Amino acid sequence: MKCRIIAVLGTRPEAIKLALVIHALRQRPEEFETAVVHTGQHRTMLDSALQFFKIKPDFDLAVMRPNQTLNSLTGRVLDTVENACQRFEPNMVLVQGDTTTAFASALAAYYCKIPVGHIEAGLRSHNLYDPFPEEANRRLASVLAEIHFAPTALARENLLVEGVSAEKIVVTGNTVIDTLRALSVLPYSWENTPLANIPDDNCRLVLVTSHRRESWGADQEHMCMALKDLVKQHPDIRIIYPVHMNPNVRSTVNSLLQNTDRIHLTEPLDYITFVSLLRRCFLVLTDSGGIQEEAPTFGKPVLVLRKLTERPEAAQFGMAKIIGMSRDAIVNETSHLLNDALAYQDMSEGENPYGDGHSSERIVEAVARWHEKKSPLLAADKQFKLAPRPVPRRRKSDSQEGANKAAAGKA
Ligand code: UD1
Ligand code: UDP
Repeated sequence: MKCRIIAVLGTRPEAIKLALVIHALRQRPEEFETAVVHTGQHRTMLDSALQFFKIKPDFDLAVMRPNQTLNSLTGRVLDTVENACQRFEPNMVLVQGDTTTAFASALAAYYCKIPVGHIEAGLRSHNLYDPFPEEANRRLASVLAEIHFAPTALARENLLVEGVSAEKIVVTGNTVIDTLRALSVLPYSWENTPLANIPDDNCRLVLVTSHRRESWGADQEHMCMALKDLVKQHPDIRIIYPVHMNPNVRSTVNSLLQNTDRIHLTEPLDYITFVSLLRRCFLVLTDSGGIQEEAPTFGKPVLVLRKLTERPEAAQFGMAKIIGMSRDAIVNETSHLLNDALAYQDMSEGENPYGDGHSSERIVEAVARWHEKKSPLLAADKQFKLAPRPVPRRRKSDSQEGANKAAAGKA
């Protein structure tokens, strides 16, 4: 009997992170029958990603409303995903991450007594309101899941501490690294993209994104003022800021930054263009989860525009720094990296701690073994392990022991 799988996605990062899982499932047609459910929590931002990955949803639930509330969105996802489950009758529903689509779809599947596989499970900031509502969404999905695909050893630890049994956890690496690796070998051009008119004048490019609910209002305003300070203080930089479609983000960013010299506000970029910008930029300022995971692949230092992160590995490895949203911190930390070549170099060295490009195949293999009632879900030596971080040049004199501790996330 084939294993029937529903893969649910609803937002841009879910499409990017599930694309290769869906392809890997479809590459094993004798074992899996796969339906893609698009809740439509995002419309434009997700549809462009699906087009790029050539994924045609089998169910399009069209739940998005302008400036939707979390409760109304959750209600619509519960209703419509239940219907898709009843029609397709899957053996397992796969959800990804911490969005309302992920949590509400897990709940809808659970109410239909269908086992849930949770991809990107176990990340924790340990603060229920930061990120909001993602910390709760992800924890709630953990309660409902039958299999937990933890991207890193730290995520596995978090789940074990919460009482999840070890045999239900598979450490996979993050699937975003699979997508990124597959994509970064493809040719790209900025012609006919929102980046076409950015002058090629040797300015260093600072890439900025920000959309988190907990930053709306004052924090977002401080960030915008800091960006204005930065272009004034550094005549050799240009800030490129693809602005998220959420109207709460747009109103602040557009009103404070529009028509500022060397600050380029753009529409959301399609994924290949965004990745090409990530490769070409000098450094990244972001509150995005996915971008924190992607930037180390290209050796780009990340200043995390948040007080807390549920993805601390890059900071533990010295490739990211959590700086918050105050105007001073953003100006000072960014200026430091713009001015100090050694500090910059320290942050741009090392392997990406989030994945090795083989996460999707691990997930699909574990689901196949689960369906065949095999144990373990995936042999320990096939699961994802972090490579130790090389000693940064600047700290060569530090003891090897200290560097190893840092690499293991204990420092
Ligand atoms: C959502 C996720 C967040 C994730 C982010 C990724 C929740 C609660 N939030 O936040 O975890 O990090 O996506 O981008 O699940 N809109 C459009 N077109 C689009 C997308 C959004 O117009 O393609 C506008 C709509 O007015 C919509 C609003 O943005 O109502 C908010 O969208 P929503 O998905 O609720 O929240 P995000 O802020 O996008
Ligand atoms: N991204 C994109 N175009 C953009 C901005 C981001 O394709 O203009 C990609 C980015 O590479 C990453 C994902 O979208 O893979 C992150 O999405 P977002 O920041 O919206 O959500 P989060 O990861 O914070 O949930």
